[in-house]
Amino acid sequence: MKKVAILANGGDVSGFNAVIRGIVKTAENNGIKCYGVIEGYKGLLENNYIELDSYSNASGILYKGGSIIGSSTNANVFNYKVEEDGKIVYKDLSDICVKNVKKDGFDCIFTLGGDGTQKSARDLYLKGLNIIGVPKTIDNDVACTDITFGYNTAVSVAMEALDRLHSTGETHHRIMVLEVMGRYAGWIALESAIAGGGDVALIPEIPFDLKKVAKKIKERIKKGKRFSLVVVAEGAMPKDGEITVKSTRNNGTGVDNTKLGGIGEKVAEELQKLTGLEARNTTLGYMQRGGTPTAYDRVLSTKYGAKAMELALEGKFGVLTVLKNGKLDSVPLEKVVGKNKEIGAVSGNTKESNLRRVTMDDDLVKTARNIGISLGD
Ligand code: F6P
Repeated sequence: MKKVAILANGGDVSGFNAVIRGIVKTAENNGIKCYGVIEGYKGLLENNYIELDSYSNASGILYKGGSIIGSSTNANVFNYKVEEDGKIVYKDLSDICVKNVKKDGFDCIFTLGGDGTQKSARDLYLKGLNIIGVPKTIDNDVACTDITFGYNTAVSVAMEALDRLHSTGETHHRIMVLEVMGRYAGWIALESAIAGGGDVALIPEIPFDLKKVAKKIKERIKKGKRFSLVVVAEGAMPKDGEITVKSTRNNGTGVDNTKLGGIGEKVAEELQKLTGLEARNTTLGYMQRGGTPTAYDRVLSTKYGAKAMELALEGKFGVLTVLKNGKLDSVPLEKVVGKNKEIGAVSGNTKESNLRRVTMDDDLVKTARNIGISLGD
């Protein structure tokens, strides 16, 4: 093994750079040259990469948000948007990527990304490339691992927002609603509600009844607490209701282009009517993805990066680096991809995706219930 390359793909998270640093340093310590593919799969297609060096361009990056090699949210190389005769068409250009990687002699490509990225990674592995995935996303919804990098930072940002909403809510006797990200999984909402002293956590896995939530808030009023903190996951929905879609995003074909958002505002309006308390919504948005990673994410990302390079040295390809019961491990990408077996089949957060959602026997659910956090059911 002489040359390896890293690509970061999908929505950014805090910790991208810490993983890159972990891979680069481990590679250097084993006499291997490490390269960074610019803007994810787009860079693989365009053969655009730079050499990374922990004493120059990959130095001082541990604490930095974003990605020093960029990331792409709309580069599905199996279904790539191209203009032909003034018309937009979608083409499978994955063979170009395979050719580029082989021509330039990369012995391994590390794919840092969520389920969509790992689906393409598995497909490229089946086409003959040596691939090792690293699980990224603030949503914490990648299958087969206990945790993804970037998630802990997102939870911490949401927790800090709750601390701040707590004091203003208490002062003005208001219901403070915080809408957080997470797509179809409620991890961020649930864990930040526990960390930030939330009274209510509404998650996609438990369709809610706002009358039940209002009951909880009224009980608090009776006991002298004339304010409440309500955390709402962007993918939460009422019983017999629908998920709230804000708009459509442009992430290419074959991926989920639903832009979630807006449920926080609806919940605040409804709770104001049901309780008589004033309610205000705050949508946290991209604050959850940017900025410096927490200590936990720096360590997790470094562990993932070093482990990924270790797996490459062992010649173990077509796998995802994971954390299982607190221990680093690896699982075949095939398992992560789940039902999306076909090469080039739809990738990303779709009905067929193998997403890891909150289950009712999870300790977070039990803890929330034990301490009286209303889950809206
Ligand atoms: O998957 C990560 C995530 O931040 C989700 O929590 C959110 O729904 C989505 O990405 C936002 O996507 P975009 O960057 O396309 O607006």
